[in-house]
Amino acid sequence: MSLTIAIDGPAASGKGTVARALAQRLGYAHLDTGLLYRAVGRKTLEGMAPLEAAQSLSASDVADADALRAPDVARAASRVAAMPEVRAALIGFQRAFAQRMGGAVLDGRDIGTVICPDADVKLFVTATDAVRAARRHKELLGKGHDVTLDEVTADLAERDRRDAARATAPLVPAKDAVLIDTSAMSIETAVRTALDAIRAVQPELG
Ligand code: CDP
Ligand code: CDP
Repeated sequence: MSLTIAIDGPAASGKGTVARALAQRLGYAHLDTGLLYRAVGRKTLEGMAPLEAAQSLSASDVADADALRAPDVARAASRVAAMPEVRAALIGFQRAFAQRMGGAVLDGRDIGTVICPDADVKLFVTATDAVRAARRHKELLGKGHDVTLDEVTADLAERDRRDAARATAPLVPAKDAVLIDTSAMSIETAVRTALDAIRAVQPELG
């Protein structure tokens, strides 16, 4: 059987790591929808208007994932993600991806609520603010970004606040989402917990 799995959660909660691992284990396709907003944000940093950037998005815009992980791109992504016309321009691609044959895992902020309200399984991945900031700080240092823990903490708080407060597709768990707090979990434990949650909702998965 092939399922559509929706995974949402705040920044650096571990949703992308869980989504990637699940897709690999199940043989499904994976879409990191944050990369779409980051790519739009990056184009606006280069001077393009947000809607034009969203409408003209192509595969080459998301090819350089490392560049898209930079903190200034994350901030730009968070700003364009609050614009309803930008979100609307990205819906079609995400929904088409979700419906592809063979199963799909999508992770983001509004997958279970807006993009795939009929997803077979919805997970909402969280972790404490301190754990998330420490994880992202370590990740950014590893990629050569010169940032302090305080800066990362402030950045995540600002993006989470904007994501939760916006009128269109705010960051909120879907009513039928399974909550997974990864604060005290290794990556392996988080993936196993997610797989268990999927099997509980979809026992046919085996
Ligand atoms: O990896 P991280 O969670 O830090 O960020 P991301 O998932 O790459 O998303 C970057 C930004 O895009 C977020 O701060 C959100 O503002 C926005 N986003 C969104 O609004 N909706 C999505 N489905 C995915 C990302
Ligand atoms: O996609 P999201 O922004 O929610 O987070 P991520 O990119 O999956 O994870 C952020 C960082 O936390 C990565 O460096 C992961 O390896 C790490 N992580 C962790 O240490 N423990 C977990 N249970 C999950 C992720």
